Parts: sequence; C-alpha cells; structure tokens
Amino acid sequence: MISMLAAQSLSVMRSGQQVLKDVSFSIEQGEIHALLGGNGAGKSTTLLTFLGFLKPASGSVHVQGRDVNGNLGAARQAIAYLPEAATLYGHLSAYENLHYFLSLAGTDTGREALDDALDRVALQPEARNMRMETYSKGMRQKVAIALAILRDTPILLLDEPTSGLDPVAIDEFNRLARNLAEAGRTILLVTHDVYGACHVADRIDLLQNGVLVGAFDRPPGMDRIDTEAVHVAFAQHAGA
Ligand SMILES: Nc1ncnc2c1ncn2[C@@H]1O[C@H](COP(=O)(O)OP(=O)(O)OP(=O)(O)O)[C@@H](O)[C@H]1O
Ligand SMILES: [Mg+2]
Repeated sequence: MISMLAAQSLSVMRSGQQVLKDVSFSIEQGEIHALLGGNGAGKSTTLLTFLGFLKPASGSVHVQGRDVNGNLGAARQAIAYLPEAATLYGHLSAYENLHYFLSLAGTDTGREALDDALDRVALQPEARNMRMETYSKGMRQKVAIALAILRDTPILLLDEPTSGLDPVAIDEFNRLARNLAEAGRTILLVTHDVYGACHVADRIDLLQNGVLVGAFDRPPGMDRIDTEAVHVAFAQHAGA
C-alpha cells in the first residue's frame, strides 16, 4: 500500500539553522497522526515542507507516493491546509468567507454544503450571516476548520486546529476528525496539547528540537493513547 504522507530522513534548514533533523514517518489512508512538540520544535515547518513551501536540505517528503519536489501541483491538490494563523476576512460573514475561499480553490459549493460543514464544527446558525469581526476567537477557528473540510481533499494538514477552542468544542473537533478518518480521509495535525492529541490520534510522534524522540500508538480496542505516558515523555525531552 502506498502511504498517503511520508517523510524520509527529512532535514530542513531555516535561516542557516537545521530545524528538522533526519525525521521519518509515514501515514496511511484513514489515519489520524499527531505531531506533538513544544514551541519551536519544528511542527509547522514539517507541514510547510509537505506543501512544498520549504525544501528539504536532505531526505524527502512524499504525498500519495510522489515526491513533492517535482510533483508540487499534485501534492497541493491532494491537501487541504489549515494554517497556524488562518486569515479570514473580518468584514465578510462566515458564508461569504467560505464561498470566496472555496471559489479561489476552484470548488463550487452550495449553501447546503456550507451549512452542513458549519453544523459539523458547531457554529451557531444565527452567527453565520454576521461579519466575522464580531466573532470570538473560537468561532473564527471553527470557520477555518469548516473551510479545510469543505475542500474535500483526501489529505488534511491541520496546524493547531484546536487552538482557541473550549473543551466542549475540542471534543466536538475530535469527533469530527474521527468521522472524517472513518470516511477515508487522512489527517496530519500538529499540536502541543498532550491531552487533545491522545484523544484524537491513532499515532503520536513526539518532536523536540527538530528530532523525533518517541512514538505512541493507540492500542487496538482502546479509544485513546495513554495521556500520562505521553506527558512524562514530553516533559522528559523538554527538560533534556
Ligand atoms: N520564517 C522563519 N524563518 C526562519 N526560521 C524560522 C521561521 N519560522 C520558524 N523558524 C524557526 O524554525 C524552528 C521551528 O519552527 P516551527 O514554526 O516549525 O515550530 P513549531 O513546532 O511549529 O512551534 P510552535 O508550537 O511555536 O508553533 C524554530 O527554531 C524557529 O525559530
Ligand atoms: Mg507552529
């Protein structure tokens, strides 16, 4: 089987510094994979490399079996990306933002599909026609997540998707991610939230200072990864 996403001995330099060192992992279709690590660990850098915005200094990244370097168009077409600081227009409503950004991506989506996605992220119906500058941070994040899932791509790269969400909204996001994965989508998300990662991911890779220092799989039949074990490993490596 061809992996949906694969990094092979990936090293990346930024401003003369090596920020990813010999990173390897692969993600199969329908999996939720979390890259967990502290600030500056290299999580966002990893996503940017899959999108071809940064080039490997050595090693490679593959999307659906093809090297991103040389197949940039195909890679980007297969991926919906939720950036760390998603920028939507404050003077537009949620509907207008979604319509605008989806049409830029060449996706023609009717009101019903927009409502379905906004239902799935639990954005209250009465807010959907209001200008987004009147939204709270969490409400804005919900619209950004809705935009990513509406792209209808096989792969989702999500940079801190639960940032700004309250605990109820985080649970809703986790359920949504699980449903998407069960429907066959592949999700790579990055976070520094140990608890959230343990509840949503099939596998967690722990990244510290650009190096993968540990991996945790959800045991068969269990609904989550052991939070305590991951927390201990996270703290150990952060202090190392
Ligand atoms: N635009 C940039 N130019 C040069 N170096 C950068 C740039 N952005 C990030 N870096 C460096 O790359 C390293 C990894 O940063 P990255 O943004 O990937 O971390 P992160 O794990 O996403 O952290 P956070 O949890 O804070 O978002 C850091 O040392 C950072 O200083
Ligand atoms: Mg980041």
